[in-house]
Amino acid sequence: MAVSTDAPYVLVTGGTGFIGSHTVLVLLSQGFRVVVVDNLCNSCEEPLRRVEKLAGLSSRVPFHKVDLTDREGLRGVFQQHSIGSVIHFAALKAVGESVQKPLAYYRNNVAGTLNLMDTMAEFGVKNIVFSSSATVYEAVYEGLPLREDNPLGCTSPYGRTKLFTESVIRDTVDASEGVNAIMLRYFNPTGAHESGTMGEAPLQAFPNNLMPYVSQVAIGKLPEVHVFGSDYNTRDGTGVRDYIHVMDLAEAHVIALKRLAENHGYEIFNLGSGNGQTVLEMIRAMSEACGRDIPYKIDPRRPGDIDTILCEPSKAAKVLGFTVRRDLKQMCTDLWRWQQANPNGYE
Ligand code: NAD
Ligand code: WQD
Repeated sequence: MAVSTDAPYVLVTGGTGFIGSHTVLVLLSQGFRVVVVDNLCNSCEEPLRRVEKLAGLSSRVPFHKVDLTDREGLRGVFQQHSIGSVIHFAALKAVGESVQKPLAYYRNNVAGTLNLMDTMAEFGVKNIVFSSSATVYEAVYEGLPLREDNPLGCTSPYGRTKLFTESVIRDTVDASEGVNAIMLRYFNPTGAHESGTMGEAPLQAFPNNLMPYVSQVAIGKLPEVHVFGSDYNTRDGTGVRDYIHVMDLAEAHVIALKRLAENHGYEIFNLGSGNGQTVLEMIRAMSEACGRDIPYKIDPRRPGDIDTILCEPSKAAKVLGFTVRRDLKQMCTDLWRWQQANPNGYE
């Protein structure tokens, strides 16, 4: 698609991270101009080099190593580029760490967003898509997929930063003329770009989330998967989650961004498939994708986990026209292609 050279930029905060970098790629391939802000606390610049290559760009994606809590740094970015809208991914996201360091999480995720919203207001930028999470739903599960109007309530400081940020944005929309915001509540993102050149690259030695851990066992970097509990009320006793391919997620952000231009005010959408897989099913699917056995052992439950978390995806289907296009097999095949070609992530 041809890009007008004076079209306003989409600012992507956290755009060198896992979901952000895949979204930058989809934005560029649909003709949007993009500027990325990231403090690189959980990423590096290399994903942007891969994005540029995949998008066939002859120039660099404008990138600013700025922390969202640095108001002046952020103002500098808005001064330098004509920004029309924002997709806001930048956040700390480790649930366990947030329990140990709650203030760091509130400062980074909530105060960072306050700076962003202030700066957007100062420069007249009215449209924002925000990365929220299924973690905002109250952990009372009665066997039904979670709808956007389910009761809210979180058990971790991380989750509360998402809940508070949603409230900050909702109150800003209510108090301002012409401001539009879409909260996207993701379920369990996984997979990688089908080229095998972009994917999730956890910096810690032991990934927190299931699928990065499983793929590191598959490649031989870790000896075995620790399955957290086999006594849940599920079909094989292990936890059920709703996994979504990162490229489906990335495409949903661009759909949401386009909807902001229609002036609907504040909206919330779940992003998931509506189907759940157990931990053992995920290990089996990954094992089939890579043609290897993936050793695992059953460990005690992880504190705070519940048996099933499933998405009710029909609002996104009806209103955004978004449904997932990539299945479990593709998630695992793409994840394995990425893991095999990049055993040490972006290093
Ligand atoms: P990620 O860590 O790969 O990406 C987040 C990026 O934000 C990183 O590049 C990090 O360096 C950057 N960042 C963090 N704090 C910053 C700050 N103060 N200033 C500038 N940059 C900062 O994580 P991800 O998996 O791509 O997640 C993206 C967003 O989606 C996050 O907001 C996360 O909470 C949310 N989310 C993720 C998941 C998931 O399972 N991956 C699920 C639901 C919601
Ligand atoms: C999935 C399943 C575990 C690791 C988390 C956050 C949530 C959201 C997505 C950001 C569970 C089991 C896991 C392992 C295991 N992130 N498991 N062994 O807990 O559903 O959601 O990521 O917003 O807020 O809480 O994802 O990948 O950690 O776990 O057995 O080594 O795998 O018990 O059943 P979770 P997960």
